[in-house]
Amino acid sequence: MLSLLADADAEERAIEAARGGAFDAFITSDYEAVWRALAALEANGRTFLEWGSGLGVVSLLAARRGFAAHGIELREDLVRRARALADRHGLEAEYACGSFFPDGFEPDVGLLDEDLVHGGEGADGYVELGVPLDEFDVVFGFPWPGEEELFVDLFRRAGGPHATLLLNLGRDGIRTITPGRG
Ligand SMILES: C[S@@+](CC[C@H](N)C(=O)[O-])C[C@H]1O[C@@H](n2cnc3c(N)ncnc32)[C@H](O)[C@@H]1O
Repeated sequence: MLSLLADADAEERAIEAARGGAFDAFITSDYEAVWRALAALEANGRTFLEWGSGLGVVSLLAARRGFAAHGIELREDLVRRARALADRHGLEAEYACGSFFPDGFEPDVGLLDEDLVHGGEGADGYVELGVPLDEFDVVFGFPWPGEEELFVDLFRRAGGPHATLLLNLGRDGIRTITPGRG
């Protein structure tokens, strides 16, 4: 795992250097915290989806934990890097280029604000994956401040009834929403 994280770190530095100080919605999770949160969930081939997968490292951690891992990411350059990273470390994850908001999903307007970072438009990522959102057992997301309830709304209305949602809330840790519980 250390070599994966070191490689991911080098990738991040390359992305940062390329953008030359411009704003970028791509910031990464605390991988150690995610790794520990995944340990609490049984895997055994259950399906895992990373919303906004960026470099796809969280998906690779899930693959290491025994999940059938998937990611959806808007930016094609990041999808390419994620696939290459998985190959270099001999790990399996399916990445689709598109949006994790499925076609036809209408966000509750009360949850939208103009500074939304994850509102970007793209093709429905579930079509490329060939797996609809409600078939995933575990879904992971890293909302920006103000986006948490939008992610929860998407999960509650379009996710599977038996699924678990993991939200990385930065300094507030990881929120886990399990079936039947808030
Ligand atoms: C905060 S980063 C998280 C990266 C990674 N999941 C992690 O936790 O380390 C969010 C990523 O979501 C992507 N993104 C933003 N809106 C999206 C959307 N509607 N569908 C898919 N990806 C999106 C961004 O390009 C960015 O790479």
